[in-house]
Amino acid sequence: MWSSNVSISNELSISGLSATELANEFGTPAFIMDEADFRARAASWNQALQQGFGENAGHVYYAAKAFICTEVARWIKDVGIGIDVCTGGELAVALAGGIEPAKIELHGNNKSANEIEKAVLAGVGTIVLDSLYEIERVGAIATKHGKVQRVLLRLTPGIEAHTHESIATAHEDVKFGFSIASGAAWKAIETVQNYPAIELRGFHAHIGSQILDTSSFEISAERLIALLAKFRDEFGVELPELDLGGGYGIHYLPGDEELAPTVVMRALVTAVTTSCSLHNLSIPRISIEPGRAIVGPTMFTLYEVGTVKDVILENGDKRRYISVDGGMSENIRPALYSAEYTAVLANRTSNQRAISSRLVGKHCETGDILIRDIALAGDIAPGDLLATPATGAYGRSMASNYNHVPRPPVIAVANGKARVIVRRETEADLLALDI
Ligand code: LLP
Repeated sequence: MWSSNVSISNELSISGLSATELANEFGTPAFIMDEADFRARAASWNQALQQGFGENAGHVYYAAKAFICTEVARWIKDVGIGIDVCTGGELAVALAGGIEPAKIELHGNNKSANEIEKAVLAGVGTIVLDSLYEIERVGAIATKHGKVQRVLLRLTPGIEAHTHESIATAHEDVKFGFSIASGAAWKAIETVQNYPAIELRGFHAHIGSQILDTSSFEISAERLIALLAKFRDEFGVELPELDLGGGYGIHYLPGDEELAPTVVMRALVTAVTTSCSLHNLSIPRISIEPGRAIVGPTMFTLYEVGTVKDVILENGDKRRYISVDGGMSENIRPALYSAEYTAVLANRTSNQRAISSRLVGKHCETGDILIRDIALAGDIAPGDLLATPATGAYGRSMASNYNHVPRPPVIAVANGKARVIVRRETEADLLALDI
């Protein structure tokens, strides 16, 4: 839940810096990011992949959509892993951070011709193709520039992953990929053969996000490998790559489970080796794309309490509303996916009795609820600081300017020092776009 350098024994601190010091220097709300923890998590997924698959290990592609900025792209480069980008914007940040184009993979179900052209010209290692139109577009653009583009086909293996409906991606009724069951995948395989400027390297599937058991990943690997075998039977060659996507779940609440890198890898190695030997295939190079599992636990959001209000409910019960200076603009996940978070008093300890409270933001909307029901000290008052753990994934990256609230900064902390890696937006930034 909390990153490794956070301590909450007395006042909350990270790498020796207290929540109060951070709030005084950088303001609130702010995303506070544990740099060493990010690097360690990225390295541990890489190590698990290398150890699990040995010479058949492909790349760990960090899923940039979870959170990216130029400085984090530099850390990815230092750790030596690759990156999965799904738009021209994410591609621009990856390149600005100096990530080797060969270690960049371009995703997306509707890449524009401009995005494809930028990727082909930059020399990205892989484009993951998602539709027949895209095969044609990539083929034409690569031909135009005299290049041969390596690609994977994104497939839907027909799996109902156990997660929120909006973040499950591999059942049949989704916008992503080519369905194996319907024959769309085979049609795509045949279509790709007509384009000499496209080199089909293998298949990809991403089955969903915040998944907490390994069985869906195993089934997905088995179905993709069965198709690799069918390809070999038809075309007489084995495709060399398989990308099994991301989606590994993390802790959000005390007592939550998570999927550790070694646990995931043990399951994938067994599934892949068993299926390959069943089909008499050599093991392809295996890649994965964790986003949340790398960045999620590395950040917490620091808020200041602005108001506390007790509301009497129809049944006579009292509900305490604690309002903080952020809300659905920097954490849309509770409103969008009913995601649950916890929070702690960060600037002091309290021995007051905990009161059942609702943590809400400052937006003009009833649904602007960060935590529906949480027991917080009865003496929490305006000026207190609260911290919400595990907001690194899809927090800042999905932040909006709803109600013209400037988006919070990201502050990286390492070795007892804090620095801004994404600055706070200002009202001038908001006005800058208006003509
Ligand atoms: N690879 C592909 C092709 C993906 O589409 C995604 C996430 C990932 C990898 C990384 O998944 P992760 O390891 O982070 O679970 N906004 C939602 C999550 C959407 C995920 C979209 N795709 C949320 O806040 O839960």
